[in-house]
Amino acid sequence: MLIYAHRGARGYAPENTMAAFRMALECRADGIELDVQATKDGELVICHDHTIDRTSNGSGWLRNFTLAELKTLDFGAWFSPRFAGETIPTFAEFFSWYVTTPLLLNIEIKNGPAVYGGIEEKIVTIMKRLAPPGFDLYNRIIISSFYHPSLVAVKKLDNRLKTGVLFESRPVDVLSLIRQTGADYLHPHWHYLDCDWVATAHNAGIGVNSYTVNEAAAFTAARQAQVDGIFSDYPDRWPDLP
Ligand code: G3P
Repeated sequence: MLIYAHRGARGYAPENTMAAFRMALECRADGIELDVQATKDGELVICHDHTIDRTSNGSGWLRNFTLAELKTLDFGAWFSPRFAGETIPTFAEFFSWYVTTPLLLNIEIKNGPAVYGGIEEKIVTIMKRLAPPGFDLYNRIIISSFYHPSLVAVKKLDNRLKTGVLFESRPVDVLSLIRQTGADYLHPHWHYLDCDWVATAHNAGIGVNSYTVNEAAAFTAARQAQVDGIFSDYPDRWPDLP
């Protein structure tokens, strides 16, 4: 199973910061998972919550801040004083570093057309601008979302890009989820894994990556269902399990 460091290795460093992404490399993760949103002035930044209260020394809706305003805030000290001074990364800053690593990448687009219209095109444009010649955008990167129209939009921009359908309940009809979105992967919560539907996906050529695997029970469920990958806050934890 491939192991993606969830929001970077967020068990060990402030989530979705460059410190967390570097930690993923130290933990020998196979890949990084992160979340992309747009600022008030349309810049792409990496942050999970729609507000900045939990992960910075600021307060309010992220979409109400310009990039310059967000860059004055501390996104590390809430986790530990050791990380004071970490700033919110732009997607472009992250991606420039990412292409120098051997890691896989899962980009989660935060949901909602009203808030983030056009975010798919901006992500694809930045990736193509910053990927060096020969970089394999089509096999190293998955773009995922709980907002499934975003996945359709990505495929319209470039059908070769890989996409993943995030969902939070037991799938009723796995193949129709795939047909509706044209996605290459299913990304279920581990609670809803079972061998039958994972096998159905695999037989249809669809990969399965499960979130968020932090406890032994979750890891066992993922292994039994034979998923292809997991997202974990503790990407170095799993080889030690019996
Ligand atoms: O992308 C997998 C996982 O990160 C989805 O859950 O809540 O972290 O966006 P969440």
